[in-house]
Amino acid sequence: MRVKLLNKISLHGLKRFDAEGYLYGEEFEEYDAILVRSAKLHDMSFSKELKCIARAGAGVNNIPLDRCSEEGIVVFNTPGANANAVKELVIAGLLLSARKLVQGINWVKSLCEEDDVAQLVEKGKANFVGPEIAGKKLGVIGLGAIGVKVANAAAALDMEVYGYDPYISVQAAWTLKARIHHVKNVRQIFEECDYITLHVPCNEHTKGMIDAQALSSMKENVRLFNFARGELVDENALIEALQAEKLAAYVTDFPSKHLLTVERVIALPHLGASTPESEDNCALMAADEIIEYLQYGNIKNS
Ligand code: MLT
Repeated sequence: MRVKLLNKISLHGLKRFDAEGYLYGEEFEEYDAILVRSAKLHDMSFSKELKCIARAGAGVNNIPLDRCSEEGIVVFNTPGANANAVKELVIAGLLLSARKLVQGINWVKSLCEEDDVAQLVEKGKANFVGPEIAGKKLGVIGLGAIGVKVANAAAALDMEVYGYDPYISVQAAWTLKARIHHVKNVRQIFEECDYITLHVPCNEHTKGMIDAQALSSMKENVRLFNFARGELVDENALIEALQAEKLAAYVTDFPSKHLLTVERVIALPHLGASTPESEDNCALMAADEIIEYLQYGNIKNS
């Protein structure tokens, strides 16, 4: 069997293919499977032999799902394999936006020409006072593998956690250690929470869900976190809300040109899943999915 690799894939996954005698590489013209991380497949012409595509990650927005279903190509993702990495980054985001860490770090760096750094620091630190997250209300929108981990971790940091997910799975519910307030209407999260974090897939139901109306129903000085997909948020409405100082911060893993110059935006270069552990987990799960399907016809996480 031949697997076309469209991105760099961790050795863990490749070793699985070695063990089964599968060939893999970037150059194949004919192949049975594709393993992809972030490359976009919409304009790609597929090999006649292609039977399945595995995405080493949760979202499948880079794969033309309609075309795959018409052509009988099975699409897999790797739910949960990077959940820990994303959870840790969300918690870092909560802390760095609340405590003004980015501004503080940049200011200290700007003192590099000064002799009396210690003294200047003591004088200037009053500009970087920020709230503790303990006791604050965090709204988690989407309680899948990542949302559940974020809810548990935030509760362990003494946040009061509100969760919204109309489709929470039994499996996810079991892993929810934290006592959270389940809300039936997402508006309750908008209206009551100080921090709101998005953990839903981007599809026709969720695209643009954070629009002008959602933003205007939020409390003043909300901090919004988007480690899911940029398209969940209506960017024009968001920029207006930031400029009107309605939002205290927008922390995102999905920067865009327009956001970069807006104040109170903290943008990261899509680092959510970028840990060696997560890359190994995703590659291994994706390789297993391909092998299970090609060898035994088993379909998991499709
Ligand atoms: C995901 O969808 O899980 C992430 O976007 C994975 C990645 O960073 O490639």
